[in-house]
Amino acid sequence: SSENAPGSDGADFIVAANRLPVDLERLPDGTQRWKSSPGGLVSALAPFLRSHSGAWVGWPGVPDVELDELTEDGLRLHPVSLTSTEVRDYYEGFSNGTLWPLYHDVVATPVFDRGWWDTYVKVNHRFAEACAKVAAPGATVWIQDYQLQLVPSMLRDLRPDLRIGFFLHIPFPPTELFMQLPWRAEIVRGLLGADLVGFHRPGGAQNFLWLARRLLGLEPTRGAVGVRTRPGVIQLGNRAVRVGAFPISIDSAGLDALARKKETVARTQQVRADLGNPKKIILGVDRLDYTKGIDRRLYALHELLQEGKVDPDEVAMVQLATPSRERVEHYQRMRGEIEQIVSRINGEFGRVGRPVVHYLHQSVGRAELAAFFAAADVMLVTPVRDGMNLVCKEYVACRHDLGGALVLSEFAGAAAELTSSFLVNPHDLDGVKNAMLAALTIDPAEGRRRMRALRRQVLTHDVDRWARSFLDALEPEHGH
Ligand code: ADP
Ligand code: F6P
Repeated sequence: SSENAPGSDGADFIVAANRLPVDLERLPDGTQRWKSSPGGLVSALAPFLRSHSGAWVGWPGVPDVELDELTEDGLRLHPVSLTSTEVRDYYEGFSNGTLWPLYHDVVATPVFDRGWWDTYVKVNHRFAEACAKVAAPGATVWIQDYQLQLVPSMLRDLRPDLRIGFFLHIPFPPTELFMQLPWRAEIVRGLLGADLVGFHRPGGAQNFLWLARRLLGLEPTRGAVGVRTRPGVIQLGNRAVRVGAFPISIDSAGLDALARKKETVARTQQVRADLGNPKKIILGVDRLDYTKGIDRRLYALHELLQEGKVDPDEVAMVQLATPSRERVEHYQRMRGEIEQIVSRINGEFGRVGRPVVHYLHQSVGRAELAAFFAAADVMLVTPVRDGMNLVCKEYVACRHDLGGALVLSEFAGAAAELTSSFLVNPHDLDGVKNAMLAALTIDPAEGRRRMRALRRQVLTHDVDRWARSFLDALEPEHGH
């Protein structure tokens, strides 16, 4: 068969994302190995895809490697290669220097660079071609996230026979902010190549419908979009594009089971002991990203220590921060600020062998992470903007003992679901401090009541339910 013709041995179900679920790691001795990729998209989708046969199209995480199709950990992987210039302009540039800050309420200033845009178009085209090659006739292709917003329409041009879904894992911004983008109409047109465009929250779907009207003169339906129900519809000739809200989640049962394992319980006790068995443990777990508000929670802790409201002999904080996008300037600056405040707190309030903040700029394994969640009396999730945030759901899934208290930013998508947490505005430092104190001193019965309600939400709304609700809505009978 010719290069782009749909192979009869092609896959019927394909996920396309910027990253493969595993990153290629080159070791100093010249050997290579695969390690799990960072971020919530992979945490959510990898367990789902492993239990459903399908293929994954994505970048192996390092520049300038050409790899053949491979099977790793039960997943069929189709690597898309990027040169180092493309990594700079498409990934670090347009994806993470333009779209990421623009879609997160411009908490950092987005850069609008025409060269970056050209490379974004070129790389999106390469992903569309890779999907076209891998897909069996009539296959379903599910395209993920902000790095690939042009792929739906490019793929539809190449393969009109496919069923195409798109899901955005980050917030879709207020229309006033989106309108800053010089290529705003191209992005909206790119997404409209899909049969179903999904967002975490109805607000994102609503913003997108407004933009389709305003930028492309289309006539979307006007009714309010619901959660997993009542998608908006945009008629494009004889094709209907649906636009809906599908809040993502985690493999709740899997994590619950991991947290209950004997080894995890033993490790939880060891973690507490390693920290010197403090009365209370506070935890933060994030990619080191300026949207996560890691600095906010550290400033709040610093003030509580200064005011004598938190006793450094009784409280220890652990901050696990996965290295992320380390060559992008805003990330370097945020890392510097976080490390400065950590050392300031420890300099002022620590003792030899007993720092107040234990900071790891490292990624830890699933089992280890579950032990940290189970050990934490207070979990701090304080992003200034986050599409969903899975860490807070993971924490809840690990608390079968009904212990622990969650402090959660109102600006995380998860806040709409986890209403029994201590909700805070991360810009309001006094509010964050009060919530931290309330969580540290919560009456155990009240804590259990809250955790029970949180667990009911997280255990019934898992990632399988998310994927099923999206894929059901993508079925042709819903669309025509
Ligand atoms: P994002 O997708 O922006 O990174 P999420 O909260 O949705 O944010 O997902 C982050 C994922 O990365 C979660 O599954 C979390 O457990 C994982 N993670 C974050 N920090 C670490 C860390 N230091 N070590 C291991 N896993 C981490
Ligand atoms: O949606 C969150 C997300 O941006 C994913 O798209 C991404 O894969 C993940 O976080 C981690 O970021 P990166 O791939 O840039 O390391």
